[in-house]
Amino acid sequence: MWVLREAGGQDAARIAALESEIFPDPWTENGIRETLCQNNTAVIGAWKDGKLAGYVILYYVLNEGEIARIAVDAQNRRQGAAGLLFERALEVCGDRGIERLMLEVRESNEAAIAFYRKCGFTRDGLRRGYYEKPKEDAVLMSRDCRRAVKSFGNQVAALTAVPTGMRETKQI
Ligand SMILES: CC(C)(COP(=O)(O)OP(=O)(O)OC[C@H]1O[C@@H](n2cnc3c(N)ncnc32)[C@H](O)[C@@H]1OP(=O)(O)O)[C@@H](O)C(=O)NCCC(=O)NCCS
Repeated sequence: MWVLREAGGQDAARIAALESEIFPDPWTENGIRETLCQNNTAVIGAWKDGKLAGYVILYYVLNEGEIARIAVDAQNRRQGAAGLLFERALEVCGDRGIERLMLEVRESNEAAIAFYRKCGFTRDGLRRGYYEKPKEDAVLMSRDCRRAVKSFGNQVAALTAVPTGMRETKQI
């Protein structure tokens, strides 16, 4: 069962560990802690059997947002976790008046590009040499987030209030 809720300072070390496992340019634990404290940021985690297995980091200014990270640990992919995280991110967009979501993704990251397409993102262009380690172009994508995501068909089993004010979702 997946449990989704807002991440907090207590989750920074686990997110940093996942960053190191997953990304060639991982965010540090301190960087994640700072992000968790910032206004105009939402960090949502997905727990499997009590362990944080995925997360999405969303930045926003006025009515525009950016998916800075979305990741699921390698053992738990293709189970719909990122789809659930994205659905929750869209709810956050609705709550906070965010109308358009943008992102950059490595051109070679076919899994992420396929995932984003399934989420309704379309390609806007290419930013040459955007990434380091290794140097690579970024594909720019965006999506009108006033439309709900219909593609995943996940069954949300329960919604309960949590102290942060963000709802906790359990998905069986
Ligand atoms: C991209 C990523 C977050 C997807 O997570 P996930 O939990 O496996 O994704 P989901 O199970 O929710 O997949 C939803 C849909 O996305 C698409 N998709 C996801 N992974 C895919 C892959 N490897 N190849 C092709 N399509 C894929 C599929 O359409 C999938 O639906 P399906 O399983 O019914 O075919 C995951 O692969 C990941 O963590 N990658 C490393 C980190 C990363 O590159 N993040 C993006 C840049 S910040």
